[in-house]
Amino acid sequence: MTAYKRHLITAALPYANGPIHLGHLAGAYLPSDIYVRYMRLKKEDVLFVCGSDEHGAAITIRAKKEGVSPQEIVDRYDAICKKAFADFGIDFDIYHRTSSELHKETASNYFLELLEKDAFTVQESEQYFDKEAQQFLADRYITGTCPKCANDSAYGDQCEKCGSALSPTDLINPKSTLSGNAPIMKATKHWYLPMQDHEKWLKEWINEGTFEGKEHHNPKDWKNHVIGQCNSWIDGGLQPRAMTRDLDWGVRVPVEGAEGKVLYVWLDAPIGYISATKQWAVDNGKNWEDYWKNEETRLVHFIGKDNIVFHCIIFPILLKAHGEYILPENVPANEFLNLEGQKLSTSRNWAVWLHEYLEEYPDRIDALRYCLTSILPENKDSEFTWKDFQARNNNELVAILGNFVNRAVVLTHKYFDGKVPTGDFDQDVLDEVKSHYEKVASGLDKFNFRQALADAMNVARIGNKYLADNEPWKTIKTDEAAAQKVISTSLIIAEHLKNVVAPFLPNTSAKLAHILNIDAANWGGESTISVGHQLNPAELLFTKFEDEDVEKQVNKLKEAAAAAAQTFTLEPAKDETTFEDFQKLDIRIATIIEAEKVAKTKKLLKLKVDTGMDQRTVVSGIAEFYSPEEIIGKQVCLLANLAPRAIKGIESQGMILMAESPDGKLSFVLPEAVVANGTSIS
Ligand code: 2FM
Ligand code: ZN
Repeated sequence: MTAYKRHLITAALPYANGPIHLGHLAGAYLPSDIYVRYMRLKKEDVLFVCGSDEHGAAITIRAKKEGVSPQEIVDRYDAICKKAFADFGIDFDIYHRTSSELHKETASNYFLELLEKDAFTVQESEQYFDKEAQQFLADRYITGTCPKCANDSAYGDQCEKCGSALSPTDLINPKSTLSGNAPIMKATKHWYLPMQDHEKWLKEWINEGTFEGKEHHNPKDWKNHVIGQCNSWIDGGLQPRAMTRDLDWGVRVPVEGAEGKVLYVWLDAPIGYISATKQWAVDNGKNWEDYWKNEETRLVHFIGKDNIVFHCIIFPILLKAHGEYILPENVPANEFLNLEGQKLSTSRNWAVWLHEYLEEYPDRIDALRYCLTSILPENKDSEFTWKDFQARNNNELVAILGNFVNRAVVLTHKYFDGKVPTGDFDQDVLDEVKSHYEKVASGLDKFNFRQALADAMNVARIGNKYLADNEPWKTIKTDEAAAQKVISTSLIIAEHLKNVVAPFLPNTSAKLAHILNIDAANWGGESTISVGHQLNPAELLFTKFEDEDVEKQVNKLKEAAAAAAQTFTLEPAKDETTFEDFQKLDIRIATIIEAEKVAKTKKLLKLKVDTGMDQRTVVSGIAEFYSPEEIIGKQVCLLANLAPRAIKGIESQGMILMAESPDGKLSFVLPEAVVANGTSIS
């Protein structure tokens, strides 16, 4: 196995189509940040890259919903996410953007280099197309039932429920997400990655850690659920996968004859890791190739489970097909975090948004880090509740960690003017404490963050018990030397605590360093506290989270979800029109003088209306909302010069104007006072 000289740690580039929530944190960002902090403490050469994923249908669909440009969406959410990560202390070396010129150039060149290496096949084939929207339907533009798990809202490229990567034609009952219509087929040309050609080495690489006679990783280090998902996908038979799309948002396909086509977002996005590294290297006078093209670099991708196939199969194929790049040494994907008994959902607004949490609780960053780390969905889905957050904050952070440090420091001030009273320490308890560096490290090395945090926390438990067992506040009266020894030893325990919690609770570690008046965390180093050392005044590390806080947060969640259920998506604003064009519409007041149901239909009424100019027949789709009797005599607005058309064999000579509510209910647009039939609306 290679001895590694440096580590390149990536965290999935989040789509810039919404803010970051706790599910994102628990999936990729908190574990990667803890891991990187640990590596830095050990003085390893480590580079931590991330950034916004700004292409693909996730962005354009959001833009369409909001009636704004994709650029406006990515600019808005890139800024929100970047700031939230920084405020929360996710310590990326660079947070880049896939809309940057450097990225576009990198992705474009990567595609060309793959073309040169004959990595693609070009194929014209029939693909799903939405006639109404005049658009090809791939990825999130098409939904249907997943053939693997029967989830009825699988996307055209992926089922987020079971993690399968799909093609649009795999979906059962496919529907366009643009119009809701069933798609038609239309021919189009695309560049395909012949994934089936890579099956053999992939299987060996994932399961044995080797290929072409070379050892790449130890498969025992990979999580079972990651290997399981990869195998089930490979065993299902790899298919050619299109690496280009018919869209106008993304990185243009840089070849002739590919007008109107962009790179597939799952080709473009992971190359974002490379362009982020390049930008960092430019900014810091380093060589990016050391991190991507050197066998002595260890590449680790932190992701959520919905990204497994892209990082363990598709991206590795793209890396290997290129030939000069290293492959990931591990992909420690996490499963999903649920929230208060339900799946997190952006569309239903069932989420705790990081930027909102930070605004409300700027002093509780480590409490959230602690709680989330304790429940990380490392090998199965897990759940965040505010009650559990309260319990962990109050019973563990306040009652154990905070209490231990506070007692040790307050006693030092009370009895010894804040000075370390003696150089005589209890070696046994210190040895026990020191053994925790190895325990914590062993958990972190295996990506067992929950266990590692529990081991770090045990140092505070040991400290608490040590104080409780030895009661220096009592012995001070009878045996001052004994009390001195206990207090000095406790301060050394607090110093080690500052080190072992540092990857998980960086703010607490820094505060502890300040209170103890010593250097910031280091890993496993010797204590720097000696007799006579002066402490700073005691400060509370944590405060209680009250029942009212829990109630407030749970209510906030419920209210936000209820409000989201009420709101509806406005239709996007239409293109500007001219007054002349508007004047072409002959809209008049008319009175309904007769109304009857159209036989064998549920929705249609046949109306006779008096337009002041004539009496004419209009067929209107309002039967589910109005009975014939109740509308006779009503004055309505009629588009009178609409070309006549036959509806169920009846010629309809105009259209009644209706307002449609979000649930599809129609209501008349009525004049405010009775006016003469035939009055023009302008
Ligand atoms: O699932 C997501 O949010 C994707 N934007 C992750 C991309 S990871 C990488 F490939 F960039
Ligand atoms: Zn599925």
